[in-house]
Amino acid sequence: MAPRLVLVLTLTFWVGCSLCCGREAAPTQPRVRCQASRYPIAVDCSWTLPPTPDSSRPTSFIATYRLGVAAHGESWPCLQQTPEATSCIIPDIQMFSMVPYVLNITAVHPRGVSSSFVPFVPEHVSE
Ligand SMILES: *[C@@H]1O[C@H](CO)[C@@H](O)[C@H](O)[C@H]1NC(C)=O
Repeated sequence: MAPRLVLVLTLTFWVGCSLCCGREAAPTQPRVRCQASRYPIAVDCSWTLPPTPDSSRPTSFIATYRLGVAAHGESWPCLQQTPEATSCIIPDIQMFSMVPYVLNITAVHPRGVSSSFVPFVPEHVSE
């Protein structure tokens, strides 16, 4: 198989099967947007989750971020008012960092979890 096809298959497998419970009813991935209008004080991120068939029970979210794209790096909480809130705040932005921040928004639903990863550079979202 061509390397590209293998990569696509690997990604599909990873996204579809990363937590193989209740595949049909697992929440879809949150759509995340970050704005640094208060740069350099904080970055505000918010997200929406397309409705799932079984949306009667609340979805909560775990929001964390890392500096840098290395998966093993230390991560910190992106501050949410409540676990059900669909927004969070990253305090203490490191100014002029050329290293991107990576936000990890994980939707937790009784039938499954799904994560979205959003890389961004604070200066580039500050307009
Ligand atoms: C994203 O956050 C979830 C929940 O904290 C965690 O289980 C998962 O390992 C994180 N993924 C990455 C790539 O950091």
